[in-house]
Amino acid sequence: MKRKTKMVHGGITGDEKTGAVSVPIYQVSTYRQPEAGKHTGYEYSRTGNPTRHALETVIAELENGKAGFAFASGMAAITSVMMLLKSGDHVVLTDDVYGGTYRLTTKVLDRIELGHTFVDTSDADAVEAAIQPNSKILYIETPTNPLLKVTDLKKMREIADKHDLLLVVDNTFATPYFQTPLDAGADIVLHSATKYIGGHSDVVSGLVVVNDESLAEEIHFIQNSVGAVLGPQDSWLLMRGIKTLGLRMEAIEKNANKIAAYLDEHPNVTKVYYPGLPAHPGHETTQEQAEGFGGMIAFDAGSGEKADQVLSKVEYFTLAESLGAVESLISIPARMTHASIPKERREELGITDGLIRISVGIEDVDDLIEDLAKGLE
Ligand SMILES: Cc1ncc(COP(=O)(O)O)c(C=O)c1O
Repeated sequence: MKRKTKMVHGGITGDEKTGAVSVPIYQVSTYRQPEAGKHTGYEYSRTGNPTRHALETVIAELENGKAGFAFASGMAAITSVMMLLKSGDHVVLTDDVYGGTYRLTTKVLDRIELGHTFVDTSDADAVEAAIQPNSKILYIETPTNPLLKVTDLKKMREIADKHDLLLVVDNTFATPYFQTPLDAGADIVLHSATKYIGGHSDVVSGLVVVNDESLAEEIHFIQNSVGAVLGPQDSWLLMRGIKTLGLRMEAIEKNANKIAAYLDEHPNVTKVYYPGLPAHPGHETTQEQAEGFGGMIAFDAGSGEKADQVLSKVEYFTLAESLGAVESLISIPARMTHASIPKERREELGITDGLIRISVGIEDVDDLIEDLAKGLE
């Protein structure tokens, strides 16, 4: 089955009993048992729910994995994956990971003495150098948020094999439509499904997919024990979003390519970050490991004041956190998504006060370009 067909016909489609073409929302917490200790496959909705199960099945298929798990948010998914570790273990992470992942690592996991090192994972030698004898997870975000840095997943697999690490990839930006990290050897793929997978700014959710039965058992054990599961209504919304994921990603990427080229030529833009631009350092790696460049662009307006001017003039770009929706969004990472990262660290990474991040939507690209032109006058 080709990718776009899988999004419509993959997983569990509809309801066998009634012929309904959409999976029913099983709004239920518990299930009648025929005998004590025997059940029909479902006993309690934290452990398993048929609507959530249908979503977990389709995301596993889309990521070419064996098992999927749905969580109440991307952060709940990431936390649950980190719970595979124990006190004294160490994680190596991409240096410009999502701010919430940075906060979780440095302010929460720190409390249970989980060590961490942030490193530029687009530099394989730097990754090797960051590994410690107690390292257990190599955690990659590619492309990154907000600087769109690209990491070579095959190289990361080689390093993970050499040091016996679990390779975990946050695939939120690329989506399974463009990139399937399990095919490149990742052990675990995860998503903030709040973004492109949901696609309509109406649900907060997280997904995890694995390719190995014993890892699947462990993740299910943690999912059920910690309990940060996704509810049936939200699971259904994600399944609806998935049906148009391919169409949306194609439209979004087409718009993003045109906008990036426009910004790249603009005299008032000091720098553009988009892997689809041939000069982007991750352009070739993206072509090798993914089928598209995605819809996220970051560009530097030169200063915080100039960035504010852009924000005050644009009409179709909504100033908001988050990304990956049908409507175009605009944000200032230094003051919004990445505010939890200390200023010195942000500057080191290139997340300047003038950096603007846009999440390109499916509107008419001419309107979007006209909008940015006004802001950059
Ligand atoms: C790349 C990435 N990973 C994880 C998260 C966290 O996901 P959530 O907001 O659904 O908890 C986000 C949120 O913006 C993100 O951008």
